[in-house]
Parts: sequence; C-alpha cells; structure tokens
Amino acid sequence: MRLAGRLILDGSSIPQSGWVEVAGDRIARVEPGSCPATPDLGGDDCIICPGFIDAHVHLPQVDSIGVDGLELLEWLAQAIYPAESKWAEPRHAEQAAARAYRRMLRAGTLGYAGYLSSHLAGVTAVIRAAHAMPLRAVVGQSLMDREAPDLLLGQPEARLVRSARGRLVTSLNPRFAVSCSEAMLRRTGERLAAGFPDSPKQREPEDPSGNLFLQTHLAETKAECARVRELFPEDPHYTGVYDRFGLLTPRTLLAHGIHLSDEEWSLIASRGSVVVHCPGANTFLESGLFNLRAAREHGVRVALGSDVAAGPDFAMPRVARAMIEAAKLRRMTIDAEALVPTPGEAFDLITRGNADSLGWRDMGRIEVGASADLLVLRSTIEPDRHFFGRLIHGWEETWIVDRLVAGRPMVA
Ligand code: GUN
Ligand code: ZN
Repeated sequence: MRLAGRLILDGSSIPQSGWVEVAGDRIARVEPGSCPATPDLGGDDCIICPGFIDAHVHLPQVDSIGVDGLELLEWLAQAIYPAESKWAEPRHAEQAAARAYRRMLRAGTLGYAGYLSSHLAGVTAVIRAAHAMPLRAVVGQSLMDREAPDLLLGQPEARLVRSARGRLVTSLNPRFAVSCSEAMLRRTGERLAAGFPDSPKQREPEDPSGNLFLQTHLAETKAECARVRELFPEDPHYTGVYDRFGLLTPRTLLAHGIHLSDEEWSLIASRGSVVVHCPGANTFLESGLFNLRAAREHGVRVALGSDVAAGPDFAMPRVARAMIEAAKLRRMTIDAEALVPTPGEAFDLITRGNADSLGWRDMGRIEVGASADLLVLRSTIEPDRHFFGRLIHGWEETWIVDRLVAGRPMVA
C-alpha cells in the first residue's frame, strides 16, 4: 500500500512532498517526490503524519471529563472513584473500554500508556478492545488498597499479560502513595524486580523495550503531598517513598511532578525514570505550572500525557498546545527564565519523544522499518516555517481523513 503527501519526518523541518510504502505492519519505503503510481491513501493536498502517542490516560474516566471546581483528592472521591467503581461490572467495563479506544482512534492517538480501574474486569475489557483495534499500549490495573470506596479496594491482582500480537503489554500501576499501603508498595516493587515471568531481564537503560513498566502519580497537588507526608513520615520526601520500594527505574512513568524539590529531581534523574507532564490536567485541577527547566537542568526525561479525565482533551496536539500555554504562563508569572517549547518540539514529544519514553523505538516516526501507525491529514496548513505552530495551535480533528493502525486502515 502507498501513501502520498507532505511527509512529517520531524518537528524541526518543513514537511516536503513524498510517499511511503507499507508492507504488512511496517514502513517498507520512504521516498521524496511524487508517487510513481496513484497512491492508495493521501494525495497532493495531504500530509502524512506519525500517529500520536499519549503517555498518560485513564480509560475508565472516558465519560468523566469536565467535573470542575474540585481539588484532586475531592475530585477523585466525588467524581472519579464512583465512575471507576462501575468497572466492577464486566459489561460496563467492556463498553467503556471500547468507547475510550474509539475516542483515541478518532483523535489520532495510535499508542498510549494508561490506567484501568482496580478490577480484573478492566483487564479483560482492554484485551478485547485491543483485539478489535490494536492500538499499541502499556496499560495496568490501578493498584490501591486504602483511602477509596470499598468497591475499588481489595481487588485480586491480574497476572501480567501480552496481548493483541504483543501490541498490548500490561504494567504495574500502584495508583499513588495515598492509595497504596506499604505492603502494597513492597509487593509491587518485588513484582517489578521479577519482571515478566517468561522473558529475560533487559537492563539497558537506553532500551527499556520488552521490560515491565511501572506507572504511578507523583506530587501533583499540595494537598496530596501533605497527605503523603502524614502517611509516610519517615521518608525524606514523596519521591523517596517510591524509591524505598525500588519503584524508580528507567521504565517508570511518573505522572505530574509539579511539586518536587531539587533533591527529588536529582533522584529521578539518577534512576533514569520519566516524568509525564500532563498540562491540561494541571490547569484543570489548578495543581500548578510544570517546571520544564528543572526537568531539563537535572536531565530528567519528559513525556507528555492527556491525563483524561483531569485533562479535557484526548487530542494530543491540544495537549501539546496546553504544554506551550502552561510554559508561557509560567514565564509570564513566576519564572522569567522558564523554558517554553517550540511547536516543533512539542510535536516531537507527542510522536517520537513519547514513543522513546515507552521504549517504542520503532514508532512515532516515518522511517523504513518503523511500525506503520500513520495518519493522513487533509488540511490547507501552509508549509512555511510556522507549519508546526499552525498545526498545534490550529489543530482540527476533522483534518484526519485516514488512520493506519499497524498497517491496517481503521475507521473511527
Ligand atoms: N492521582 C491519583 N489518581 C489520579 C487520577 O486518576 N487522576 C489524576 N489526575 N491524578 C491522580
Ligand atoms: Zn492520571
């Protein structure tokens, strides 16, 4: 199959006309110039774009966007835990997981790292959704054993799973230190160290693929940090709680990281863990303005997540815009030296940057040998030096006319 149009190769160059040949689930050729025959997808007025990747999303929160006016812990108690409790019911979980998948596909998100509810039914539901629509995923049951309604606690822990021809891999997701006892964090650290039972452990920090991922939340709001200090008075700080149980590795995704000390940034850097910035969520819950400069100065890897439903947008270009806006607000208010990413840098994050953080070196890019997870956009965006600014700030979902998931066209 051939796709033609302006090819987005990276966020630092203006896309030029070219064509891509797809064989099976891979990109087999990438060529400049016009396609030698009529392409199967795309055309002169089209743009060929890598599928977007969301590094932090909650599938059971697909119907909970917009519950405004609450602080994180109140929002969880009043809106989110009741919504997630419904996932105890397998039919509900299946329908909601399918809805979340459709929302992501429609938004052009072809890979994600995410959370389910605490129920086994969620794991079965997402495996079903992935068989119908094999979005690439690292996803885990939310592990929690305190400070939430009974319907969410004391659930059996799912075994680790690779499904949908390896496109879906489960991770360990202790929700956050507030909802996990010491015993749960200790057990999770032991399971993390043991890795997938059937695969040799891969210890190269540069290539975390094939290993077990851990996802959790860290230092999102001040009230949350205060509660963690009460629950873990002997630890030096919030990050230190996770470190004590061996939870910080190069395959650890730490969502938010808004309220971190220099010591915590250094610890995260030394472990090679990733901080997943979720700007839409941080504004919605008024958690704070992410310190991108601190992350860069400490050499901490950064990914970008929607954090639906605290974040209101499934569309990753909108999340990229929210990142730029949050950084500008920070520069206008509290830090004249704040780093503001360019639209091209933000675009790179929602494609190859997030892919790299998830160990997917063969995704989020248009390259020979890469997985054919591609979008065809039809848009009149001018291909000038403001191309990525126009794409990110002016993003419209209706620009997406075709979606290729592992080489297969999928209708959203
Ligand atoms: N911290 C613990 N759970 C959650 C969640 O579901 N969403 C957000 N934004 N923060 C959390
Ligand atoms: Zn979250």
